[in-house]
Amino acid sequence: MVGGGQVAHRRVAGLLEARARVTVVSPEVTPALEALVAPGSLTWVRRRYEPGDLDGAWYAVAATDDPAVNAAVAGEAERLRVFCARADDRSASSVWTPAVGRQGDLVVGVHGGGDPQRAVGVRDAVVAGLTDGSIRDRAAREPEGGRAGSVVLVGGGPGDPGLITVRGQQAVAQADVVLADHLAPQSLLSSLPPEVEVIDASKLPRGRSMAQEQINALLVEHALAGKRVVRLKGGDPFVFGRGMEELEACVAAGVPVEVVPGVTSAIGVPGLAGIPVTHRGLTHEFVVVSGHVPPGHPASLVDWPALGRLRGTVVVLMGVDTAGAIAAALVEHGRAPDTPVAVVADGSTATQRVVRTTLTGLARALADEGVRPPAVWVVGEVVRLATEPGPAR
Ligand SMILES: C[S@@+](CC[C@H](N)C(=O)[O-])C[C@H]1O[C@@H](n2cnc3c(N)ncnc32)[C@H](O)[C@@H]1O
Repeated sequence: MVGGGQVAHRRVAGLLEARARVTVVSPEVTPALEALVAPGSLTWVRRRYEPGDLDGAWYAVAATDDPAVNAAVAGEAERLRVFCARADDRSASSVWTPAVGRQGDLVVGVHGGGDPQRAVGVRDAVVAGLTDGSIRDRAAREPEGGRAGSVVLVGGGPGDPGLITVRGQQAVAQADVVLADHLAPQSLLSSLPPEVEVIDASKLPRGRSMAQEQINALLVEHALAGKRVVRLKGGDPFVFGRGMEELEACVAAGVPVEVVPGVTSAIGVPGLAGIPVTHRGLTHEFVVVSGHVPPGHPASLVDWPALGRLRGTVVVLMGVDTAGAIAAALVEHGRAPDTPVAVVADGSTATQRVVRTTLTGLARALADEGVRPPAVWVVGEVVRLATEPGPAR
C-alpha cells in the first residue's frame, strides 16, 4: 500500500479482512491506520515510496495524492508482474477492486462498470437479500452429506426489528425452527417462509409461559433432528434471559451452539428515550437490577442497602409491580427521595412512552399512567439530561 490517507485506510481494511500481510509505505498515515501498527496488524514504512518497495509483494495499491508517484508504483508493478490498483486512475490499473460483502464464508464481489457507488449499492442489496432471506443460499441450507443440526441463541433487541444484529438476522433467515419470546421482534417472524416452524416460547409476566425445561428440550430435540434452530430472545440472551441455561443444555447434549448478543433493553430502551446510563462528570457507574422480587423477599439476591448508597444510575427491569417497594428501599438506604426517575414502557415500539417522576412519586405515577410491562425504569441524575431523540430519516 503506497499512501497513508483515507483511500489507503479503506483499502487496507479490506485487505486485512482478507488476511493479507500489509505493508504501508507513506511518510504519514491516518490515526486509524496508525492504530493498526502497534498490535502488529500492518507494517508501516515511514517514508516516501522508493523503487524496489514492491519486492516480494503479490499485490500493490497506489493510493497517494501524487499521480507521478502512483504512476511509478504502477510501472514497477507492471515490470514485476504484480497486480496493481491505482486509486487515481482506473484505466491505468491492472486490477480493479470490487465492492466486497461477506456473509459467513460466502464472499460477494461486485464491479460497477467503473462506478464504485453502483457497485456498493448492488453489493449491499445482495448482502441484504442474503441476510433477510429474500436471496436464498440453497447450498448453505442443504450441504452435501446431510446437515448437522445446531442452535443459535439470538438476542433480538428490545422489539424493533431494526435493532437486531446483522448476524442475528442472518441466523433467523437461515433457520428451520424458531423458538421465539413475546419480547423478541415479532415482525421478523412474519417474513419467514411457511416451511419454517415457529414455536411460541413466551413467558408472560404472571401469565402463561412455556417452562424453561421444555424450551431447553425443544432446542435440543430439533437440533438433534438435524434442524437449524434459532432461539429468538428479547434484548440480550444473557441479561435476565436464561440464555445460559439454554447454552448449557445444548452443550450437555453435544449440540453445536452459537451465541449472538443483542441490544439489551437495560441500556437500549433508556437510550431510545434520550437517557444515557452514564455521562461524563456526572455518573461513573450503572447497575442493572431485576425487580421481579421486591426487597426483603426470601428469593431476592440484590444488596438493596448498597444500591441505596449508590450515587450512579440504577436501571430496573421487571419492576413495574414492585416499583413502590424498590423505590422505598432505595430511599430508606440513602437515596434522596426527589431523585429523578424515568419509566420507559414498550421501548422501541410504536407505543413507546416515557413517564417522568421521582423516587417518592414512582408508585403513584405508574398507577396513574396505567403503565404495564414491559418497562424499564431508570433512577439517577442522568434522567435530568433526557433529550427525546427523533428518527433521522
Ligand atoms: C425477562 S427480562 C428480559 C430482558 C432482556 N433479555 C434484555 O436484555 O432486554 C424482561 C424485561 O426486560 C425489559 N424489557 C424488555 N423489552 C423491553 C421493551 N421493549 N421496553 C421496555 N422494557 C423492556 C422489561 O423490564 C421486561 O420486564
